[in-house]
Amino acid sequence: MGTIIVTGGAGYIGSHTILELLEQTDYNIISIDNFSNSNKSSYERVKALSKRGFSTLEFNLCDTEKLNYELDKIDAIIGIIHFAAFKSVPDSMADPLSYYNNNLTSLTNLLSYCQQKNIKHFIFSSSCSVYGNADKLPVTEQTPLKKAESAYGHTKQIGEEVIEFFCKANPDFSTVLLRYFNPVGAHISGKLGELPINKPNNLLPIITQTAVGKNSLTVFGDNYTTRDGSCVRDYIHVSDIADAHVKALNYLIEGKNKTNSSLFNLGTGNGVTVLEAIASFEKVAKKKLNYTIGQRRVGDVEAVYADNFLAKSELNWIPKYNLDDMMLSSWKWQLELENEKK
Ligand code: UD1
Repeated sequence: MGTIIVTGGAGYIGSHTILELLEQTDYNIISIDNFSNSNKSSYERVKALSKRGFSTLEFNLCDTEKLNYELDKIDAIIGIIHFAAFKSVPDSMADPLSYYNNNLTSLTNLLSYCQQKNIKHFIFSSSCSVYGNADKLPVTEQTPLKKAESAYGHTKQIGEEVIEFFCKANPDFSTVLLRYFNPVGAHISGKLGELPINKPNNLLPIITQTAVGKNSLTVFGDNYTTRDGSCVRDYIHVSDIADAHVKALNYLIEGKNKTNSSLFNLGTGNGVTVLEAIASFEKVAKKKLNYTIGQRRVGDVEAVYADNFLAKSELNWIPKYNLDDMMLSSWKWQLELENEKK
């Protein structure tokens, strides 16, 4: 049947994608993760939710020799889904070189291995942060990219370009670049979700931690020119993102791609304000959130949401979950973590 390598498979999106791959395909799945910002327990959680198993390897993808040595032992690799990367905007501003080094070395190492071994299919995690403060909303894949606001965003812009040039030089190679909007939520079982190792910066874990008294939520600005003054984002359920990866993989393997580097936005297409996200959480969790309104956060764009027509029409992908589902699954996951500690 062939093997699919998933890098960063213990991470938030990687673990949900492995679960979807196990459920929806017969491929042999191997995850590579060095747990630099993930937790081994994600593997156990995926295994508990799935009828079949998968293998795991632990090493740093920047270690070229180790990568070649380990991958050489694997039979019939037919594709690589590359999630593993550093992803904190503030950390990337404090230590940009570690971001350029980690995110780009791992990428070029993997592409170089694909080239040597004729592995033809590759899926890359990109981000809506590549659009910056776009002039026109919603953003389509053709919307011109602005100068990156952070070193993290810049590594995603460069990563996309590296792949595009690589594809031009290697016409047999085919890749899908997926620009994620704001992945949130947890598996509907409430048994798998985001496990940030460090203090989270993203809205959803801060909301759910605030609801259990472990954090305090500040809304970053209520004086933007949006309908309620808070920023607008396109929140998308992590299981919908995971499903898009399975569809993208099949799209490549079945040769349905029109170019050898295809690019898709992964968002619902709905712009949601921070205050609307909070209201949805309060409704489904049946809990009032104690939050304050604070200053704007440096580096935040006012509004960004996706035109997702291309992913829907080309990949046959339809996001299943709405905002309330995202909030409820995140809440179930937080309660699961609280229960486990008891
Ligand atoms: C951020 C990154 C993006 C990355 C994504 C990964 C920036 C500029 N962008 O997106 O590149 O791909 O994370 O998940 O950092 N908010 C609050 N209070 C909080 C936390 C967030 O009001 O305590 C607001 C933010 O101002 C923003 C929204 O919630 O309007 C979402 O924030 P966040 O979850 O951090 O994601 P992004 O900043 O959109």
